[in-house]
Amino acid sequence: KLDLKGKDFLKLLDFSIEEVQALVVLADDMKKQKEKYADALKGQILGMIFEKNSTRTRVSFEAAILQLGGNGMFLSSDQLQIGRGETIEDTGKVLSGYLDGIMIRTHGHDRIETLAEAASVPVINGLTDLYHPCQALADLLTVYEHKGSFKGSKMVYVGDGNNVAHSLMIGAVMMGMDFALAAPKGYEADSSVIEKTKELAAKTGAVVTFTEDPIEAVKGADFIYTDVWTSMGQEEESAVRLNAFAPYQVNEKLLSAAQADCKFMHCLPAHRGEEVSAGVMDGDASVVFQQAENRMHAQKAVLYSLMKK
Ligand code: CP
Ligand code: NVA
Repeated sequence: KLDLKGKDFLKLLDFSIEEVQALVVLADDMKKQKEKYADALKGQILGMIFEKNSTRTRVSFEAAILQLGGNGMFLSSDQLQIGRGETIEDTGKVLSGYLDGIMIRTHGHDRIETLAEAASVPVINGLTDLYHPCQALADLLTVYEHKGSFKGSKMVYVGDGNNVAHSLMIGAVMMGMDFALAAPKGYEADSSVIEKTKELAAKTGAVVTFTEDPIEAVKGADFIYTDVWTSMGQEEESAVRLNAFAPYQVNEKLLSAAQADCKFMHCLPAHRGEEVSAGVMDGDASVVFQQAENRMHAQKAVLYSLMKK
């Protein structure tokens, strides 16, 4: 019943609640039954354009397409002509003649929209400044593996209202999870994404809270999530950010204010001693490496759904 053939995967908001849920269930099945999908994308080629660094996205996408019987091509923007000023539109048109799908990690979200408009093959978001939907899908799979369902659980994001936070809040609320975000003044989530989240919450019955107080936010949390305080492209602000976010570290004290079996989540890469204490990052509550593995399984579901013939 999930028919996403030929579509782009730019943000979760482009899909229905049923479609996102079906992608999570498919990812779970693909993780459990690797062999069943071994030839699913036989002979298909995915190009992967990176305008920012990556470990997980790069390797998990390449592994995902290879596991599905296809081929992956790593394309670093500084070695492509886009690094010398060729337009993203021309790049999209040219690559569509060679490839069956394009994944891109880029800066402004408008840039991926322009690429998707120009390309005739599916375009997948491997992170923009605004969204990181493949990360959120992997995170939902991780929640699903722990809880077996979504409703009745609470996801709390503590820290910068960034791309990871945006996709997480949309995804969690779509699935009917309660959601809270604690961020310092000036670093709140994007106001239009907050509005969309509230609209979705009204549909799914999720309770959403936006606050400056991390202790208040984590009350009743089943999952506490954080991300880096300085995202790629913000390096010049890092000293100011270190200072602004200091009270928002996820540490043993904050974890103890949540549910007793609360799990710690992080998209990685992590900075121990900044957004998370070493004890929490490496402790029993941490599910960060499960999340990282789930990137590959979630992306297999995306690639299969968009690119299957
Ligand atoms: N979480 C994530 O997207 O990691 P990378 O930057 O290593 O791809
Ligand atoms: N918010 C981070 C996520 C990295 C995976 C960034 O954009 O750099």
